[in-house]
Amino acid sequence: MCGIVGYIGSGVAKDFLLEGLRRLEYRGYDSAGTATVDPNGDFLITKSTGRIHSLSSMVASSSCKSNIGIGHTRWATHGPATVVNAHPHIGGSDELTIAHNGVIENFNELREMLAAKDYTFKSETDTEVVAHLIAECLKSHRASSNGTPLDHDAVVECMKQALAQLRGTFGIVVILKEFPDAIFAARLGSPLVIGIGSDEHFVASDASPLAGYADQIVYLADHQVAVVTADHLQVSHRDSGVISHDVKELQVDSGQVELGEFKHYMLKEIFEQPTSLKNTMRGRLNEDDATAVFGGLNISNQDLRKVKRIVLTACGTSWHSALVGEYLLEEIAQIPTEVEYASELRYRNPPMDDDTLLFAITQSGETADTLGALREMKRKGHMTMAICNVVGSSIAQEADGGIFLHAGPEIGVASTKAYTSQCLALMMLSLYLGRLRHLSYNAGRRMIDEIKRLPSLIEKALQCNEQAKAISEKYQHVNNFLYLGRQYNFPTALEGALKLKEISYIHAEGYPAAEMKHGPIALVDEQTPSVFVMPRGFIYEKVMSNLEEIKARGGPVIAVAFEGDERITEVADDVIFVPPVEDFLQPIVTVIPLQLIAYHIAVLRGCDVDKPRNLAKSVTVE
Ligand code: G6P
Repeated sequence: MCGIVGYIGSGVAKDFLLEGLRRLEYRGYDSAGTATVDPNGDFLITKSTGRIHSLSSMVASSSCKSNIGIGHTRWATHGPATVVNAHPHIGGSDELTIAHNGVIENFNELREMLAAKDYTFKSETDTEVVAHLIAECLKSHRASSNGTPLDHDAVVECMKQALAQLRGTFGIVVILKEFPDAIFAARLGSPLVIGIGSDEHFVASDASPLAGYADQIVYLADHQVAVVTADHLQVSHRDSGVISHDVKELQVDSGQVELGEFKHYMLKEIFEQPTSLKNTMRGRLNEDDATAVFGGLNISNQDLRKVKRIVLTACGTSWHSALVGEYLLEEIAQIPTEVEYASELRYRNPPMDDDTLLFAITQSGETADTLGALREMKRKGHMTMAICNVVGSSIAQEADGGIFLHAGPEIGVASTKAYTSQCLALMMLSLYLGRLRHLSYNAGRRMIDEIKRLPSLIEKALQCNEQAKAISEKYQHVNNFLYLGRQYNFPTALEGALKLKEISYIHAEGYPAAEMKHGPIALVDEQTPSVFVMPRGFIYEKVMSNLEEIKARGGPVIAVAFEGDERITEVADDVIFVPPVEDFLQPIVTVIPLQLIAYHIAVLRGCDVDKPRNLAKSVTVE
């Protein structure tokens, strides 16, 4: 939520700032701003409401060639999306400027304290409090140092003093007028990375802006403060002073963050799924032992055999993949599994014995509630695992072990390829845990053979695109949709409904197909289509009865079914066929038409598919 960028080096700062903000726009897009330093040493701050392109035209036309700058794209928390509330903000009497991600919970009391010291507030944001607080700490430092000029280390100490007074989360970048040769950056709970170029450094909320600019990356951790100059990076920790920092190779290339031939990131990412799934399974299927292989679980097979219960926790789409995981882990590994909303789990106090293993599932690795739930379980002494897409993210750093999705950067706010990769990771995990227990060699081999077919099956499923578009044209004007499925396809129904409501703003509800008799059937009329996810399988006949119940009440039916199912064409108004697969693979294949229908309906309704209203991709606030 919110995106930060920073540049210092021999180049023109605004070039990277604007491109970086464009790539981070998925994190928040209600207003944006940049701050650079003009030739007189004054801050040049430009802000606008709305999307980055309105800011870009203002900044691009300025003649400023500053070599230092920071920028921000905002998802409003404190105060509406106005120019005044947009970042960067000024601290003290124009001595520093700051951009901030996260939420400061005690901002009211700090604001009162600072107002009593004559600091004036122009905005309603919590960020301005941080700006003035740092200015206040710098002022006290000057007062107590008998006129000794400040240096970078003194600024770091002042920042630490200021940050220690904050309750909440932050990722911040600061420029001081006195030091136009350095960006000061710090984080607690909101991600910040630093890209290393030649004679230049880049700061960003995640790695995507760095692609094409830097080859190496440093992931800042909580309680760290960095001093970034053109040719040097110094990181210190709140408690231990200057520390050495790990430099990693940047694994994102610019092709992965560009649209290419596609009109929207969401469509690009839907069509990337054959590749993203291949990358998720790469090197993880061991045919000789008929099992899966994971390099990062950091737990022995002996200990895994002792696991008696698994808890999967997540938010949003990742929570739906957790539901798929529950079916898979119970069916294939026969381990009792529960799925918890992370926002609930973190404040509940469920009895969890020593044999319980927690998996936090998250695309971004930054979702505040998922991180909160993971931390609470860790605090209680449980082993915690993550299934995560973003290397270096907070959850990836804090979990004891886990599985990376390797799905590549996901930029569209509505998650698609990360979802199918999460389902696949959970499938392979079920195979692995199953093979540690009762699952036979033959059964394991059969699963592997099926899993390996997935990329080509998804290629085939994607061929329904034109048909999904035609169906979307037919139903684009309705106000309500029902999505129904059972067993492995119940989470698919939930996910189909979520995709539609997120990006087209049509009300949609997902239900287990049989449960629809207990309420949702009251909504059925000629204007309310029901999407039945009903591939042939052991539950097919039962779902067919539910479908008939809807038809009997005049409700239009769109069915997602297996190729070769002729019966369905006689009863459903529209059918999208997907290639037949084993039960456990169904959720990955059947969700494809639902992603496409959501996409096309949203486009037809003129919605901003990649940046739906009110949403953000990475929800770093509670
Ligand atoms: C937000 C996004 C969803 C996402 C959810 C969880 O709500 O809009 O698309 O599923 O956060 O995100 P995570 O990164 O933890 O998977």
